[in-house]
Amino acid sequence: MIRIVIIGSGNVAQHLIKAFDKKNTVEVIQVFARNNNAIRSIFDTTKITHSYTTILEAELYIIAVSDNAIMEVASKIPFQNKLIVHTSGSVCMDDLGDTKRRGVFYPLQTFSKSKEVNFKEVPICIEAQNEADYQLLETVAKSISDTFFRINSKQRKALHVSAVFVSNFVNYLYQIGHTICNENNIPFEILQPLIQETAQKIKTLSPIEAQTGPAIRRDTQTVNAHLAFLTDENQKDIYKLLTKSIIDHGKKL
Ligand SMILES: NC(=O)c1ccc[n+]([C@@H]2O[C@H](COP(=O)([O-])OP(=O)(O)OC[C@H]3O[C@@H](n4cnc5c(N)ncnc54)[C@H](OP(=O)(O)O)[C@@H]3O)[C@@H](O)[C@H]2O)c1
Repeated sequence: MIRIVIIGSGNVAQHLIKAFDKKNTVEVIQVFARNNNAIRSIFDTTKITHSYTTILEAELYIIAVSDNAIMEVASKIPFQNKLIVHTSGSVCMDDLGDTKRRGVFYPLQTFSKSKEVNFKEVPICIEAQNEADYQLLETVAKSISDTFFRINSKQRKALHVSAVFVSNFVNYLYQIGHTICNENNIPFEILQPLIQETAQKIKTLSPIEAQTGPAIRRDTQTVNAHLAFLTDENQKDIYKLLTKSIIDHGKKL
């Protein structure tokens, strides 16, 4: 049994605690939480601590705190020669300090406390300072997910930038669509099948093959009509920039 201590009680910590629950190969023996209110309903309160001096010995310490706090938290774990990993997409493994046994356990998904996630489908990006620790992290990843990848810090940075484009930016575009629907008394749900099909389609087509719309068709009259319709300058700028990018870099007709 691999004993794990999780540090943090936010989105990722909570999803990990639930995912590790009742697994044969791993056990979360303790959670460090500054504020235990956040997790008392999902984890045995007698196993929650808010003091670094009472942190238990374990095979693995998973730091699931805000990116800015990772370095500080890592330096406070009171054990030498223990494997310490963080869960961030953008922080280098070496930012964990000069501890010999360091690594990364980055679950590539968007996590919110209030939304359940099927962890079996979450790709876990693993990196470790040495091969034995990589193998341990692989065992831990396998206990909760069907997919894991060996990704180094440089690749993870690139992956995180890609993730911002395909998730955070796309979600912001949903927000613009939502606003425009609201302003015109149209229920946003009408767009749901289109949103679903757009996401489904790139499972079988590359994004460049899947691109449709006035920009890729060079339908300039439609583009100009859309620009004339938009009154918000920010929306206009985004529309122009994306249209230009699709025309300049998209599939050549
Ligand atoms: N959310 C996602 O979709 C997602 C996906 C993949 C990876 N990640 C990565 O996972 C990590 C955690 O993200 P999250 O979304 O779970 O964050 P979050 O919900 O904002 O939670 C952050 C946690 O960090 C704790 N914390 C902050 N500063 C601390 C400090 N100085 N000492 C001790 N604890 C501290 C907070 O404690 P308090 O509650 O007391 O403030 C809270 O428990 C980040 O590295 C993030 O990049 C996030």
